[in-house]
Amino acid sequence: MDRAFALAAALAARGGPRLAGVEWPVSIGSTSDRLKTLARGGAPEWTVVLADIQTGGRGREGRTWVSPPGGLYLSVLLRPRLDSVSLLPLAAGVAVAEAAGELGVRTELKWPNDVLASGRKLAGILSEAASGPAGVEWVALGIGVNVSLDAASLPPEIQGAVTSLAVEGAAAVPVHVVAAAVLARLAVCYDALRSGPGAILSAWRSHAAAWWGSLADVRAGEVPLRGRLLEVDDDGALVLELEGGERRRLLSGEVTRVRRTAGT
Ligand code: BTN
Repeated sequence: MDRAFALAAALAARGGPRLAGVEWPVSIGSTSDRLKTLARGGAPEWTVVLADIQTGGRGREGRTWVSPPGGLYLSVLLRPRLDSVSLLPLAAGVAVAEAAGELGVRTELKWPNDVLASGRKLAGILSEAASGPAGVEWVALGIGVNVSLDAASLPPEIQGAVTSLAVEGAAAVPVHVVAAAVLARLAVCYDALRSGPGAILSAWRSHAAAWWGSLADVRAGEVPLRGRLLEVDDDGALVLELEGGERRRLLSGEVTRVRRTAGT
């Protein structure tokens, strides 16, 4: 069966969102780049682009997302009519965590929306938005999930930091089934946001890695910060207490927990 058709059928079978359009080439530069072109051309909400391989996959903070076969590379277009879209990336993280849970894989969320299993990266989300005079016009959510990829196909420096659904116990799950689970869960989270931030925030907090109170390094802009992780506030911002006691609210960044060695 054609994969795009299989995805639409899997979504229909579970009452998931009706996709406005699906592109699923074998190889692409970046599914998010293609989706953004479609968005600028007026594509409707729930247009999706997937690929088996990306040759120019992009991650957060300007990083590369190495995208060999065995991953889900999915970008989905939303045109939110929400007062604030700041929680959408967190909602996407919740959706991916719930989809993994449905497949029997326990995960934790690392702010803002890294999905970890056994302390390693299982999935990442890149949220990109465009605004016009009336506010946010569209959001392109790019979601990468390591489904069955062979760690040996990744650069040696990241092999130890990455895991996959297959390694975590969900072996032989077809990529379109993972995509359907993610999109169906995303639709539920997206709907929940329309009634306010409460449900998504509490779902995100319940999935969040239990690092609160820990010392962490945060890369957010040019100056690296070190401080204690206090909370994620109602706008999805990370609140960090710097070593001098000053509080910082961060809207994006990369968190690494500082592991103290004995005697330090
Ligand atoms: C991260 O850095 O954690 C975010 C990674 C996002 C990767 C996905 S794969 C599908 C989409 N296309 C891209 O080029 N990036 C996103």
